[in-house]
Amino acid sequence: MFPTHRPRRLRANPMIRDLVRETQLHPHDLVFPMFVQEQTDQAVPILSMPGQFRHSIPTLLRACEEAVEAGVRSVLLFGIPNHKDPQGSQAYAPDGVVQRAFQALKAEGLPLLLMGDVCMCEYTSHGHCGHVDGHCVDNDKSLDMLVKTAVSQAQAGADLVAPSDMMDGRIGAIRSGLDAAGLHEVAIMSYAAKYSSAFYGPFREAAGSAPGFGDRSGYQMDPANVAEALKEVRMDIAEGADMVMVKPALAYLDIIRAVREITDLPVAAYNVSGEYAMVELMAREGLMDRRRGILEVLSSIKRAGAGILLTYHAVEAARWLREG
Ligand code: PBG
Repeated sequence: MFPTHRPRRLRANPMIRDLVRETQLHPHDLVFPMFVQEQTDQAVPILSMPGQFRHSIPTLLRACEEAVEAGVRSVLLFGIPNHKDPQGSQAYAPDGVVQRAFQALKAEGLPLLLMGDVCMCEYTSHGHCGHVDGHCVDNDKSLDMLVKTAVSQAQAGADLVAPSDMMDGRIGAIRSGLDAAGLHEVAIMSYAAKYSSAFYGPFREAAGSAPGFGDRSGYQMDPANVAEALKEVRMDIAEGADMVMVKPALAYLDIIRAVREITDLPVAAYNVSGEYAMVELMAREGLMDRRRGILEVLSSIKRAGAGILLTYHAVEAARWLREG
């Protein structure tokens, strides 16, 4: 007997494929991470991340307008200060580069949700994500720096703060700090399950944030663990996270799925710099159809269970999705 079912019937033409597609990407799913630095009026290309820039405040504003026109609704800002010190003081300076960028964006009144990455590593001279004593990153002393950073970003105009440092207790500390400053409406997207990953390589070159000694495996998670990710997610939810993130995305699709199954909160995933560079370098070498590759990556992350996709491809992807 020939089979009763012929699955190819549902693949016969674009109309029927569109009808039965289980995962639909939408421009509203996308968050565009962007870098802003002091010193210059130019946008400086980031060599490790072809197509991405370290913006000045004026070029950031133009790039955000372009993102809005493409259909992007959210941006995540990373600041790159001129001056780094052991305390990372530019992270929470009221006139720090990221604070000034938020103020300028707010003044512009674009229909954009403004997110701030809260971490110390771009701002500290030692390149670690918190307070360093000798060769140890002191968890509890780091909390105060992170709270000050989150509050100052929110006061400058961030609608949401996204702590990426992986110190214990930071979500509760930041929530209390925001509330004490009257910033009840500012949401927290926790980098809840953030792994100690080799895929951050290009970012560290972009942000000049590679650790000066040691590595981050004393605070970021071991790539081999899954139960621990669920523990981190549950703790951050108990401390008041509004959304939880898994990072990186592509090498951690099983983690995204597992997190999706244990929470009702929105789940985000960060398609990180190394994952971006892999696609760009393959496309540049003619080894992959770039557009198909990018949409396949994003679709796989959404299919795994993430409703929010942080991606350096946000602007282009939004344009393609609108074209249909
Ligand atoms: C800051 C931070 C990092 C990334 C986001 N926030 C780097 C790191 O932890 O070393 C990585 C983003 C990317 O690779 O695209 N802690």
